[in-house]
Amino acid sequence: MTLASFPGGCSSTPPSTSNTAHSITKVTVPALTEMKRQGKPISALTAYDYPTSRLADEAGIDLLLVGDSLAMVVLGHENTLAVTVDEMLHHARAVRRAVRRALVVADMPFGSYHGEVAQGLANAIRFVKEAGAEAVKIEGARIDMVRALTEAEIPVIGHLGLTPQSVHRMGGYRVQARTAEAVLQIKADARALADAGAGAIVLEGVPREVAAEITVELAIPTIGIGAGPDCDGQILVFHDLLNLTFSPPAKFVRQYGDAAALIRSAIEHYREDVEHRAFPSDEESYHLPEEARKALDEIGAKRTVPAHDFNSLP
Ligand code: KIV
Repeated sequence: MTLASFPGGCSSTPPSTSNTAHSITKVTVPALTEMKRQGKPISALTAYDYPTSRLADEAGIDLLLVGDSLAMVVLGHENTLAVTVDEMLHHARAVRRAVRRALVVADMPFGSYHGEVAQGLANAIRFVKEAGAEAVKIEGARIDMVRALTEAEIPVIGHLGLTPQSVHRMGGYRVQARTAEAVLQIKADARALADAGAGAIVLEGVPREVAAEITVELAIPTIGIGAGPDCDGQILVFHDLLNLTFSPPAKFVRQYGDAAALIRSAIEHYREDVEHRAFPSDEESYHLPEEARKALDEIGAKRTVPAHDFNSLP
């Protein structure tokens, strides 16, 4: 691998333009509907920063959502309500810089689309203009908002079921659509979102049977999280997938790796090496060029550490 020096002095390579495992054809919102039509499952994951978004994109994930879950899993808040538009934009820009193929969707945070439609529209435009988002996601059946965004050429992903921004109204994070009345309501909401122009709908925390029916009834894709295997796609929170949440996983989470164990062990090893002076080694050190050494000797400069005697340093 060629290492190029990026501003800031980090060793890095720019995002790859070739991807051997997956076609580099850009994923778009219409492409998601085409995937549904062809029966191809949509893989989606949340994303919050450059390196992990780049890895997810290079791994062939179709949709990367800059989720407001970042309030909890990245910023350490108790729920998603506190995160601001500016904070979301900051992370969305980093994700955008990393991604070549996946569809980049930005979550509109709580309060950014709950008042006047014009204000929600202005906030959504910021995600497109300032962060390069290709779609925005909004929670709930805010049909007027979805219609206005769609008319303004901003693709919208809906989000129904357990909508974390409604945590106080729901009285906690609970599976939704568990009564006949609630099932009829969520199905009507899903249809209304699709009719208003939504490009896809995230279904979170709903019974498998309900998600399956909505999936069959809509032409646009459903993307499930805690909604069973019958949705057109699946999304997980990055930190859930990799055991980085510091809390017991929800029933629907499958951990595909233990990044906490990997990171903890690497950091402990590093600390031990520093404490035992095992890091850095001579090979990991820069050395004074021979000419500079000679020049110092010639001018009789005082040497406090004899050459080649660095191991004697305290
Ligand atoms: O913010 C988020 O991570 C989400 C997903 C759970 C869909 O909305």
